[in-house]
Amino acid sequence: MPREVYLETFGCQMNELDSELVGGQLRALGYRFTQNRDQADIVLYNTCSVREHAEQKVWSRLGELVERKKAEPSLVVGVLGCLAERDGTDLMRRMPVVDVMVGPGELDKLPALLDNAVKTRESMLAEGVDPGRGVPKSARLAALQGNTSRRSATLAAAADTLELLDLSRAVSPLDDTQGPQRSAYVRVTRGCNKFCTYCVVPFTRGAEVHRPPEHIIDECKKLADSGVIEITLLGQTVNHYRFEHGAAVTVNGFVQPQKGRSYSGGHRRDPFAGANVTTFADLLRRIHDEVPSILRLRFVTSYPRDFGDDVLEVIRDHPRICRYLHVPAQSGSNRMLAAMNRGYTVEEYTEFLDRARAHLHEPHKGRPCEISGDFIVGFPGETDEDFEATKALVRRARYKNAFIFKYSPRPGTVAFEKLPDDIPDAVKRRRNNELLALQGEISAEQARAYVGLEMPILVEGHSVRERKKQAAAGACGDAPRGISLTVNGASVEPAHGHGSACAIDDEPEPAPPQVPGVDVQLSGRTDTDMIVVFNAPARDVGAMVGTTMRVRILSATALALVGEAVVPNQ
Ligand code: SAH
Ligand code: SF4
Ligand code: F3S
Repeated sequence: MPREVYLETFGCQMNELDSELVGGQLRALGYRFTQNRDQADIVLYNTCSVREHAEQKVWSRLGELVERKKAEPSLVVGVLGCLAERDGTDLMRRMPVVDVMVGPGELDKLPALLDNAVKTRESMLAEGVDPGRGVPKSARLAALQGNTSRRSATLAAAADTLELLDLSRAVSPLDDTQGPQRSAYVRVTRGCNKFCTYCVVPFTRGAEVHRPPEHIIDECKKLADSGVIEITLLGQTVNHYRFEHGAAVTVNGFVQPQKGRSYSGGHRRDPFAGANVTTFADLLRRIHDEVPSILRLRFVTSYPRDFGDDVLEVIRDHPRICRYLHVPAQSGSNRMLAAMNRGYTVEEYTEFLDRARAHLHEPHKGRPCEISGDFIVGFPGETDEDFEATKALVRRARYKNAFIFKYSPRPGTVAFEKLPDDIPDAVKRRRNNELLALQGEISAEQARAYVGLEMPILVEGHSVRERKKQAAAGACGDAPRGISLTVNGASVEPAHGHGSACAIDDEPEPAPPQVPGVDVQLSGRTDTDMIVVFNAPARDVGAMVGTTMRVRILSATALALVGEAVVPNQ
């Protein structure tokens, strides 16, 4: 009997991609995947540690397994990802239900560890020994990088095996019930070197390593050949991508990934750009030109200081690169930005906003540009005045949307060690709500600017309203599945598992006027990442999913645009 695996993913797109990659590896080894946790022989959680709340969700999931594990001692439970790396083997001590732990830097070891864990339990049961009464130490396994992850001697080796994991990608990773995959993530950079004082990511994901451009482009081609039309490039500071070819070493026939040289103050252009360096601008241009069947090329998350004009020019001049930038500011107060070690001032950030819009915001050509942001409220020492400065930045920035988080102290970070968490939760909550309300008004205004525009929309599937209508009529079974897209940058914690933070489920329900039996209501996105709900003639909806249609925008709410398909005269 093949073993059934339940895999639930928390956290950012990086984790969603990791889940897809390990899922592909396990499938290739004969494991089967199930959506039903109670039926699974192996339960895996790919975890996030970015805020305490993210960790609590995992603790409660693990708690839910305690009783079952007592009754079913052969059950294998694994914790993967950032919580595993941050908590280390301490987690196993506190949670005896956990059998296997694998950090994000060691995921290539998962198949071997799982195999070992499963076999040990099976042989114990065969011998009449209850694994619930204690398995030998060798059967509770952890693969973590611990404090070696930032040492250069081990970095190259770790990067090499991880590169093999990315290269192992199965191009049709979804099971047959889910239809062709239209949207995919491709990693360009692992880890992070920025060390913002509040952030666990440099500790959980290790040092920044850029993947060789050839590997990235080959992966994009493979995905495109399998039917993918939208690719989102991933990196914690994705626009900091930089690969020095001269410095690359070949190991086992692969070009060795290496650390990028930073060009500090390189606001405008990379002074070292040239034949031996692939910059982020070069990478975007190459993917655009060498993989033409990718209709939309996106990237998250961008770092404000690393946006050179070279990148903005490439986006402007290449029509299939999306004009959507997710560029977290975190605060509008220079005092807070310094305490957070963000490495830029509010003035530099707003200079970037102006420069980006000067290059990319062309609504008169039907090509607007949208920017979204992240903010942390209640960072240690944040005064009312600091918070007012953040509100002023939000007003000035005119984001499409912003992700707002209450500061959560993370053990091991500089802020946790050095700065008391002195803002009461009630104040954090009030600031959070105030900022959300302010951004809500701005989002609505931004959306209204689309009314009257005619834009290409990438069709994702039936709208929520249409699906409900069809479900009520008993016709939902064959409704095409939409493209699985993540709502936004690394800050989103999807509410549901399996890595498919399906945007359509979050879609609000404005109703374009519909002629029953003639129109069907679809949902899709602009290349600026605005959700659009629109009517189209009821033809073969399955064939429309994954294509672009021209849509005229008729009205707007803060959450979605409403439109109608522009049908060419017959
Ligand atoms: N690499 C991305 C962000 C990754 S984490 C960047 O630098 O922009 C995603 C978001 O989580 C961050 O943008 C930040 O707003 C939020 N975040 C990170 N650590 C946090 C903490 N300790 N408390 C609250 N929010 C946090
Ligand atoms: Fe890196 Fe982003 Fe975390 Fe800063 S917030 S340390 S840039 S991942
Ligand atoms: Fe969370 Fe790790 Fe991503 S901490 S946000 S899963 S990099």
